[in-house]
Amino acid sequence: MNRKHITRFDYLLILYFFTFLLSPSFAQKVTIPIATADHMFLLQTDNQNRLRTVYFGKPIENESEWESVSSLSKYDENNSGIYNNAYTPAGTWNLSDPAIQVKHADGNTSLELKYVSHKQEQLDGNVTLINILLKDPVYPFEVNLYYKVWKNENLVEQWVAIKHNESNPVLLQKYASANLFFSNKDFYLTSFQGEYLKEMQPIENKLEQGIKTIDSKLGTRAMLMQTPNFMISFGHPASETEGTVLLGQLAWSGSFKLDFEIDSNKNLRLITGINPFASEYSLAPNKTFTTPSLIYALSNNGVGEASRNLQDWARKYRVLDGQGERLTLLNNWEATYFDFNENKIVGLFKGAKDIGVDLFLLDDGWFGNKYPRNNDDAGLGDWQENKKKLPHGIGYLVKEAKKEGVKFGIWIEPEMVNPKSELYEKHLDWVIRQPQRPEIYYRNQMVLDLTNPEVQDFVFGIVDDLFVKNPELAFIKWDCNAVIFNAYSEYLHKQGIPQSNLYVDYVKGLYSVLERLRAKYPKVPMMLCSGGGGRADYEFLKYFTEFWPSDDTEPLERIFLQWNYSYFFPSITTDNHVTDWGKQPLKFRVDVASMGKLGFDIVTDHLSPKDRIFCKQAISNYQTFKNIVWHGNQYRLVDPYKNDIASIMYVTKDKSRAVVFNYLVNNRFNITATKRPVVFNGLDKNKKYSIKEINLYPDIPSTLEQNKVYSGDFLMKAGYNPDVNLKRTSVILEINEVK
Ligand code: DGJ
Repeated sequence: MNRKHITRFDYLLILYFFTFLLSPSFAQKVTIPIATADHMFLLQTDNQNRLRTVYFGKPIENESEWESVSSLSKYDENNSGIYNNAYTPAGTWNLSDPAIQVKHADGNTSLELKYVSHKQEQLDGNVTLINILLKDPVYPFEVNLYYKVWKNENLVEQWVAIKHNESNPVLLQKYASANLFFSNKDFYLTSFQGEYLKEMQPIENKLEQGIKTIDSKLGTRAMLMQTPNFMISFGHPASETEGTVLLGQLAWSGSFKLDFEIDSNKNLRLITGINPFASEYSLAPNKTFTTPSLIYALSNNGVGEASRNLQDWARKYRVLDGQGERLTLLNNWEATYFDFNENKIVGLFKGAKDIGVDLFLLDDGWFGNKYPRNNDDAGLGDWQENKKKLPHGIGYLVKEAKKEGVKFGIWIEPEMVNPKSELYEKHLDWVIRQPQRPEIYYRNQMVLDLTNPEVQDFVFGIVDDLFVKNPELAFIKWDCNAVIFNAYSEYLHKQGIPQSNLYVDYVKGLYSVLERLRAKYPKVPMMLCSGGGGRADYEFLKYFTEFWPSDDTEPLERIFLQWNYSYFFPSITTDNHVTDWGKQPLKFRVDVASMGKLGFDIVTDHLSPKDRIFCKQAISNYQTFKNIVWHGNQYRLVDPYKNDIASIMYVTKDKSRAVVFNYLVNNRFNITATKRPVVFNGLDKNKKYSIKEINLYPDIPSTLEQNKVYSGDFLMKAGYNPDVNLKRTSVILEINEVK
């Protein structure tokens, strides 16, 4: 080309062309799929380079069509900005509930987040990690969105990392883990409400316009009143076998907040994370703040499938030793409470051996000398054996248990302190309390300040010391009864760190203790307990093998409780103990407790001869089917909330064995539901199966024809009648493939 021919007009044309190319309105849309086997979210940049959620549904196969999805929705964004932002900032264009709100080092409260880049890492054939970087164009402030996707389990784990390079700390006023958007019609939310002895009570509501909040401000325990577990059903109320559902949990063991907003376009915005209540977090320059994870399993075939996916994932990828074994045990809490001594405890070992459990668990009351722990009002914090009760120490008990042929485990509550303790006298500065105000107690105790590294060392030391002195110690029950009242940390004050970091740094401090413990003791089984079921989540379960769902061990109530927990947790993680609560016969109590990790909290000497025979037989039966219950697929067949019976089935992965638990849950005289068959699930329709009743009480024969053979097809269509009635209130069926 001859240079002479390029006119001024040409220059202008070229300039205009490049300006157009670089202008935001021409910016190429970036579409990022977050895809499991059966579901897909599409995130897409808009012409302002903001990231939006433009699609949720079944995977759209043709990649070239992804870009067109966003043009299908014509929502009005004039009121409060865009609703479907993938991580909604506050202080600029957005007037709806934000996912993130900050005060910059210079006091400015505006935040804009624009897409910068993303990468995708294939961790293995099943797991992908997607990382999206968003930046504020004005402040040196960035957010990384992480999505870890387990394709086969249809499960997503989502979290966020926040970082800045401003001259001073930035105050994070809100910092959600996830900001999801669903544009279906009609949403039903099942939340799980609770209180002590009444944990995990489901309530289903249709979500209407406005924000429904589920939250906790308790600080130490997420689950007491409301839980961070939820179920969303799309289009219809949740069903076990039909419809699209999402089972979610915020994996955070402190205060949390889940906001379900039906926006003015009737779409669902879900913003979840640490509860910002009293928790504005001061983030120093170049430090990364990582939020907890939101974990959710998806299914197009109802809650049952979503649960099985979640349970599979938990066993395989999350729960400590999730694919391993567990120990059956005898606990002395309800057998003795605080009233025991060495001889009494040693005397109980024989009973443990006799009924056939693996381990004896010594509960609360073994420590404290100046202030003996003879009640719940003293001694907590003084972790030395009480010399009167246990003159020869824990070591002696471990040895005696071994002689008797059982392992030995112990209870601790290391995060807490009674004001009547030497620890409190020596280290008042370690206690969370407002120095100028009267103390407030929960079960006569207060919480230690785990933001303080010295307190972290102390808590680590309690467990470490027990293991160093007693290397054969085989189990820990880690309790936590108090909540954080009077939130104030002497340590944070001395460090010049704002008090509003306390709730978050407490939980992070606890995780770092657990991290250290697991580095040194990777596999010792530990039970998470919290004065009932106040603690159970998938962050804790990285460190714990199991949890205590409730102090309510009345077996009828337990059927409902265990049913509800099973939406989110595999039965290998739930500890169920047979106690003397309620009026149900021993068989009923043992059968219910067998749907998980079986334990006992009874005085075995008080068992009648027949009860003793039954117990031994039931525990030996349990050894034969426990792996089906712990590792198999669970099917909730008959819902106790809607029927007179409950039926729950567990099937091995190869569909060769199964066990079905059936219970009468209504004692009224004329109960029709028990006259109907129970339709099984999860078997192979082409296989043949024999059915026999197990866990029969001595001298009470089964009313069922034992070992009769049926096809899987028949059992999953016509079903089987376990003959549950007022005389047979609990029936366990063992199903075996016949070749
Ligand atoms: C509360 C727990 O839930 C009980 O099982 C028992 O361990 C007590 N604490 C001991 O104080």
